[in-house]
Amino acid sequence: NGRIGILTSGGDCPGLNAVIRGVVKASEQLDYECVGFLKGYEGLHDPVRYINLTCKNTTGILNEGGTILGSTNKGRFAATVGVDDRVELDPELLAGVKTTIDQLGIQGLVCVGGDGSLAVAQQFHEYGIPVVGVPKTIDNDLSATAFTFGFDSAIACATEALDRLHTTAASHERIMVLEVMGRHAGWIALHAGIAGSANVILIPELDWTYEDVCHKILDRESRGERFSLVVVAEGAELPSGGHVGEAQAGAQARLGGIGQVVAAEIEHRLHRETRVAVLGHLQRGGSPTTFDRVLATQYGAHAVRLVVEEKFGHMVCYNPPEIDSVPIMAAVNRLRTVNPEGSAVQAARALGISFGDRPV
Ligand code: F6P
Repeated sequence: NGRIGILTSGGDCPGLNAVIRGVVKASEQLDYECVGFLKGYEGLHDPVRYINLTCKNTTGILNEGGTILGSTNKGRFAATVGVDDRVELDPELLAGVKTTIDQLGIQGLVCVGGDGSLAVAQQFHEYGIPVVGVPKTIDNDLSATAFTFGFDSAIACATEALDRLHTTAASHERIMVLEVMGRHAGWIALHAGIAGSANVILIPELDWTYEDVCHKILDRESRGERFSLVVVAEGAELPSGGHVGEAQAGAQARLGGIGQVVAAEIEHRLHRETRVAVLGHLQRGGSPTTFDRVLATQYGAHAVRLVVEEKFGHMVCYNPPEIDSVPIMAAVNRLRTVNPEGSAVQAARALGISFGDRPV
């Protein structure tokens, strides 16, 4: 029938290979060939780098982390990524990409990526390059889809970490601070915090104070619970008035992250042994969960359908219970953050979890 291209762009996450496999399998069913561009958008131009993808050479990748195509959030296309409103790509770059797509006879290019990468896909679309999008990020902060694949795997990792910290915290009667990813949104901290029975959850969407965090820890102590688990999203804002370091920003830079600063400040204020764990890229690696495998596979199959139907400029999305599609434009430059009044926050509060924003 023709050819379908695929690339993976931006930070990796569990499930990318499941999407690739989904696209390849669904394409072959319809007698389309598949071409996988290497290192994200970079593989599209100067020099063009791709491999032919078949069911045979993608067998066994469903449960593997990472991406067999490689990815990058650096380079010529990334210079424009994440910029406030619009992405403006160099016209020569766009022309080069169009030539690649035309010369290889690609009927549709499946771009798997997060906010910044989808903004690039939108530019391609406006330039007349036939693209469809697949939303990806462990942060789960893309608009227009209920879930991005990778998120479930990330919270499984963070929840396991909390389970492990729980027993050591209890044994030593310590306060354990776990720093998780989430630059702009607290979804990972919120969901892992609930699943891993954290006592305090600190997220970018809610202003918090050390007084309320310490209040919660002391309140637990007064009930005989002489340990506490604090989860903090890397993007949470530090309150003013901390004692650790001359300036908190300086302390954060020196110590290596918000988790360190929060742990040091709690120890300083309460004189209780406090330890910190920074989960970092562990959340981005490893095998995808069952949920992410199913979601990513459905996304891959649906992306092929969008190409066949020539629904270019659209992105697959999860609109429970169905997989659907929306214009890519609906997803970019408008991150979906945690609703402080939403049911997950409310449920957590109902259980006595503190967000550090009021005495509990
Ligand atoms: O957006 C996904 C994400 O994992 C963020 O949560 C994190 O801040 C960032 O990527 C890390 O990016 P890098 O791998 O480039 O350090």
